[in-house]
Amino acid sequence: MNGAPPRFWSIFFELYESLPRQGPGNRACAARALSFCRDLPSTPTVLDLGCGVGGQTLHLAELTSGPIVAVDSHAPSIERLRAAVAARGLSERIRPVVGDMAKPGLPSASFDLVWSEGALYNIGIENALRVCHGLLRSGGYLAFTDAVWRKENPPPEVKASFEDDYPTMGRVPEVLVAIERCGLALIGHFTLPDEAWWDDFYTPMEIRIEDLRGTYADDDEALAVLDQLAQEPAMHRRHSDDYAYEFFVVRRVG
Ligand SMILES: C[S@@+](CC[C@H](N)C(=O)[O-])C[C@H]1O[C@@H](n2cnc3c(N)ncnc32)[C@H](O)[C@@H]1O
Repeated sequence: MNGAPPRFWSIFFELYESLPRQGPGNRACAARALSFCRDLPSTPTVLDLGCGVGGQTLHLAELTSGPIVAVDSHAPSIERLRAAVAARGLSERIRPVVGDMAKPGLPSASFDLVWSEGALYNIGIENALRVCHGLLRSGGYLAFTDAVWRKENPPPEVKASFEDDYPTMGRVPEVLVAIERCGLALIGHFTLPDEAWWDDFYTPMEIRIEDLRGTYADDDEALAVLDQLAQEPAMHRRHSDDYAYEFFVVRRVG
């Protein structure tokens, strides 16, 4: 974030790493997206890109029965996922890896299902779609979420809030064009419902921000950062008609 106060990132990570997930999504949406993947093998080989602390990775482990590689560039998130995986006795099935999805260093054409919630945009959506295409077996599926504008002209306040993090954010038809350009076939897409923003993401975030306000009660700099971080769920409360998260399920045909 440009112009962030010096302590912004340490408090940002203190908050985000403690949440069940680091972006919108829930188990029901993962199950719905997975239901589009009708021809998956019975024990599919799965790759979760930009997994964060692995909220959706653990859901995928319940919803599928094959091996899962979960990649994120933020090492502390991967450490948390490793601990959760070990605590659930899933170390044989889930392999958390610190890595860059732009250069994942994984064998090409080796996954039946590539999954990515709220993460592909970090390396440019079209670049990411090409990376995923290369990782998928022929006939394999890619399921991903991406933030999209719902309106042609969102209010300046909302536009400005996405300017730092996702300046190239588009609308659904633009993502569909990128999908086609990357040689992937659309199977279906749907908009995440409001509870997918709140139940596992903004509600725990607001609770945690209140906890941290207590922890940092005598620290004006930290409190200012927390005020800044609290703006995101507050803005969503006011402006959820202006933007959405869309789940896209596509398939490598060739
Ligand atoms: C919005 S969070 C979503 C996390 C998780 N999928 C979820 O929905 O809870 C985006 C994640 O992408 C990760 N990320 C950003 N750039 C990355 C890259 N180049 N390679 C791998 N992970 C990356 C971040 O560390 C972060 O965990």
